[in-house]
Amino acid sequence: MKFMRITGLGLALAMLAAGTGLAWQGKDNKKTLEALDALAKKGNGAADAKAAAADLELEAVMRAFKPRTKGGFGVGAKAGLVAANLDGIEAALPSLQKKGVAKSDEAKMAEPLTDLAHRVAAIAAVSDHKWPESKEASKSKKKWTELNDMMKEGAEALATAVKEKKWADVKKAAGKMNTSCSECHSVFRD
Ligand code: HEC
Repeated sequence: MKFMRITGLGLALAMLAAGTGLAWQGKDNKKTLEALDALAKKGNGAADAKAAAADLELEAVMRAFKPRTKGGFGVGAKAGLVAANLDGIEAALPSLQKKGVAKSDEAKMAEPLTDLAHRVAAIAAVSDHKWPESKEASKSKKKWTELNDMMKEGAEALATAVKEKKWADVKKAAGKMNTSCSECHSVFRD
């Protein structure tokens, strides 16, 4: 009987811990998303980004790329604009690189893609200050800045392509951002 009670309690605690863990990984990225959005809306002046970066963790900032349901921004102001499996910046970029935007979606996607570009630029402005210090030559600050700049330039190119309605350039811009993600992760994310 005693054994049963302990097991029951253990199980309850394990479930509680798992539940808390899920909540933490999920919606609880609000503070970071709000800080990034404030920068995105302001056009992320360098000084603002530096101050914001001091209060933010790189992992939480990167989580902004995840699906809306996993602590990320998603694509568009509300869920439902794009298919659920593409409702995250990381999920949307490869499809954008490959297929671009369908002619029939251009009007509806212009504003959400501009917002997405500004959000990626804000993330890049923050991660500029988040080099994970390392003495390894391959993980230098210079390398970090170079790959982070690639992400920044991709975001700027996306905003310009949408503004100028050069829809073919959307693919190129998405490609540039995708390359920055994978190259930086292969060097700095073990
Ligand atoms: C300048 C380097 C750099 C660039 C560029 C970069 N990342 Fe990251 N990313 C990292 C590092 C380092 C981590 C690991 C952070 C940690 O766990 O502390 C990471 C982690 C992540 C994570 C996991 C976050 C979590 O919850 O653990 C996601 C998702 C992610 N990146 C998406 C992206 C996407 C999408 C792009 C491109 C649009 C991108 N990253 C560009 C360096 C970068």
